[in-house]
Amino acid sequence: MNSHIFDIQPLHRFSGSNAAIRRPREIAYFSYDDEHNFRLDESSMRYYYPPQPSQLPLDLSAGFDTFQKLDDAPDEHLDALLDTIVALEQNTEKKCEADIVTWRGMMTKIMTAPFDMLNGFEMNATYFQVENNTYKNAQKEIQRNQRMPPGMPSQDMMAYWGYKFETVSVIPDTWGETSREKIEGRIHEIVNNKAQYCSVVRTGFGKVKLVIGGEVDAIWDCKPVRKEDPINWVELKTTAELFNDKEKLKYERKLLKFWAQSFLLGVPKIIVGFRDRDGMLLRLEELETHGIPGKVKREGRGSWDGNICINFTATFLEWLKTIVNTEGTWRIRKREKSPVIEVFKVEESGNGGILSSSFVEWRTKQ
Ligand code: A3P
Ligand code: MG
Ligand code: MG
Repeated sequence: MNSHIFDIQPLHRFSGSNAAIRRPREIAYFSYDDEHNFRLDESSMRYYYPPQPSQLPLDLSAGFDTFQKLDDAPDEHLDALLDTIVALEQNTEKKCEADIVTWRGMMTKIMTAPFDMLNGFEMNATYFQVENNTYKNAQKEIQRNQRMPPGMPSQDMMAYWGYKFETVSVIPDTWGETSREKIEGRIHEIVNNKAQYCSVVRTGFGKVKLVIGGEVDAIWDCKPVRKEDPINWVELKTTAELFNDKEKLKYERKLLKFWAQSFLLGVPKIIVGFRDRDGMLLRLEELETHGIPGKVKREGRGSWDGNICINFTATFLEWLKTIVNTEGTWRIRKREKSPVIEVFKVEESGNGGILSSSFVEWRTKQ
């Protein structure tokens, strides 16, 4: 087995001015409805409208017993993203060119790797067609097991708080088109995380062109009339209220993930819902995504550096393009606590189930 190694450390190689980056632009979208059925439309797009100050503190645990939870066991691979690309190509009668096609979650792992020694990841990639397309898909995620001390809420409950926060912070239509009853009734609405709106964007790091798909939580106002203008997306996050330095440092590390995740899709604003240890939502804070790295440097401990993340990602992806350039399936792996990313071939031919047959059929017909 021929393994190619990319050194993450030392990081000073990636400091300095930023590699060329392209602003992400939405080229397509799709939705999952309340039953998680795929739809080629924006029906699950939501509008941001925060809970009213008079509704705070708000109990994020309420309704946990009626949670309509998505069964995330089946691996959906890249299917929805590829179906959306096929539809786009059919509509525009143009090939959607890219070096890398993947989910935003995969890219977040790569982008945050310089400052996340602890966690590991594994993803599969395949090489398809002449224009160097690499298709990446998660194989599995390695995460440290977290044991909850007795008396602490369960992991499931804490995940529910995040979805509950989303439910009480969005409305299905613009404010003008939504009834007051609907807005006030949100705190009693059944929480359902099966519905999603996913934006598919074109973006770039250094010389590498990417098409990335990822969920966006809500829009601030509405989509711009001119398609090329940025969209005022909003990312919603919950986090525990900060009392001491240890908690502040933990939050600063969390901000790295919030920032990278939003940066990749061009989401300009993050709304953080601070909650207490019992899941009571206390207050909301608005963060501008582009201002987060500067804030961390100026006001925080400087535990991470956004420029380094961007330059690292550009350098790594350019390198990856030179490695994954023959038929077959590849594995991209970072072990827990490891300072390197390994890339090696796991299958000599085929696409390892990464590509849907409908996508392969469509592309080979062209
Ligand atoms: P919070 O981020 O507020 O905790 P996203 O922020 O990506 O839109 O995800 C929405 C919610 O999904 C999260 O809200 C969290 O509740 C849940 N979630 C996302 N990733 C998770 C993970 N790896 N494990 C558990 N819950 C997760
Ligand atoms: Mg989300
Ligand atoms: Mg969110």
